[in-house]
Amino acid sequence: MSKREYWSSRVGAIMAVTGSAVGLGNFIRFPGQAAQYGGGAFLIPYLIAFLVVGLPLAWAEWALGRYGGNLGHNSSPGIFRAILGSRKGAYLGMLGTLMPVMIYMYYIFVEAWCLAYAWDYLTGHFSALGSDSSAIEKYFMTFVGAGGNGLMFTSSAGRMLIFLGICLVANIALIYHGVHKGIERFCNIAMPLLVVCAGIVLVRVLTLPANPAHPEQTVLNGLGYMWNPTKPGETLLHALSNPEIWLAATGQIFFSLSVGFGLILTYASYLKPKDDVALSSVTACAGNEFCEVVLGGMIAIPAAFVFLGPAVVQHPPGTFGMGFITLPNVFNQMPLGSLFGFLFFFLLFLAAITSSLSMLQPSIALLEEGLSIGRKASVTILGIVTLIGCLFVGYFSKDFTALDTLDFWMANFFIFIFATIQSVIFAWVLGINKGMEELNRGAEIKLPRVLPFMLKYISPLYLLIIFGLWVYYNLPGRLKAIATLPKDGPPVVLFSVLLILGVALFFTVIVALANRTWDKKERVS
Ligand code: ALA
Repeated sequence: MSKREYWSSRVGAIMAVTGSAVGLGNFIRFPGQAAQYGGGAFLIPYLIAFLVVGLPLAWAEWALGRYGGNLGHNSSPGIFRAILGSRKGAYLGMLGTLMPVMIYMYYIFVEAWCLAYAWDYLTGHFSALGSDSSAIEKYFMTFVGAGGNGLMFTSSAGRMLIFLGICLVANIALIYHGVHKGIERFCNIAMPLLVVCAGIVLVRVLTLPANPAHPEQTVLNGLGYMWNPTKPGETLLHALSNPEIWLAATGQIFFSLSVGFGLILTYASYLKPKDDVALSSVTACAGNEFCEVVLGGMIAIPAAFVFLGPAVVQHPPGTFGMGFITLPNVFNQMPLGSLFGFLFFFLLFLAAITSSLSMLQPSIALLEEGLSIGRKASVTILGIVTLIGCLFVGYFSKDFTALDTLDFWMANFFIFIFATIQSVIFAWVLGINKGMEELNRGAEIKLPRVLPFMLKYISPLYLLIIFGLWVYYNLPGRLKAIATLPKDGPPVVLFSVLLILGVALFFTVIVALANRTWDKKERVS
């Protein structure tokens, strides 16, 4: 069995957690959501969700993780079993390995698209497409095989497989090198590089002149669109009375901070008993918000506003439209667009890989500590499981149905459930006093006095209300989609749910075996 690992420094731990948090969510999902929900109005529920659940739960997850690490566990099943004092706890914790792995299976595709776009800008391929948005859209749809199932495996889309292969190998290789030599070292380089690239693109966007054909399309008006809480013809109250804006903002906070996935739980378990978690957690959250609101929010929307106008900004073509269709069109119209396009997609790739790495580590931790196997075996097993999932998502590429189904159940549904479980475990099972004692151990800042009350009552209540609303609005349609057989083609939604169940079964078996290992250890000690 491998020996216990630790982060080599506090900065390393913070970089790794920030690397996990800063991802595609910051640069693609956030601007898309903000634009869709009225720009500045979206930021109000977003800020409230950050203060009520995002930051408090990040603190709880860091503290639970370090606590579990001190008890000798790095995986959420091990940590939950130790805290709940029961084998059943390990099954509850299983979600903290299942969710990241399932998200990884589609997240890595978007990572590969970013790498491919960066390459295409570097080699000048994209400039040839000019500002013809239908040509860019066609390029994207063909590249990702969105027109039909199996297209990604045909020779015309073969390039995609090369970039996917590079991403798969890079993730596995980094994870193989371990927490310190793989994840920490990589994030220490990738994160500053990412911020530098984003800074250069941001300066370019903020200094863009007004669009000569449409003088009102200025950067300032673009920023106004992004930040003004009211829009002509709509009051703020009206915008905020739409429950969807609250659901979207809360979901964005979880996804973006990587809270509620079980990722921070595992990363924080590699801290030493007296390492600070209070300030580290705030630093990682602040780093994420800087990258999201300042960098992510000020690049995509204002640039698209100047070149394409408010109508395009408000209605980007589909989920990935803002990043992969709208923005290339913007870069293609900019002087030195190839350079800025390359920098933008390269920084997206760095943001994505530092996040996808973190999605593998919880399972590696479970396989190693639960089955008492070494790194090579654990990485091989996980490599095979994730490859099967990726081939599935890659094959069923038509209209992104498989990707969207996995995203819905993992990053929208289970994320709420696991976040709620963690908040209840912290405040009610471990107990708020013990939880706060744990959070305060080694703390380098004074935590807000309201935090215990917040974690015990407000955060779980807020989560339950938001989750209730979310279920009401979304679940019936999604359940119906599982049961509906399409008239033509295979039932991809049903297949995707079966894939989730299959991987869940795999982890159930691993947790059962891990429980036996931990039983044995407990009997010996
Ligand atoms: N937190 C990661 C992101 O925002 C998953 O992409």
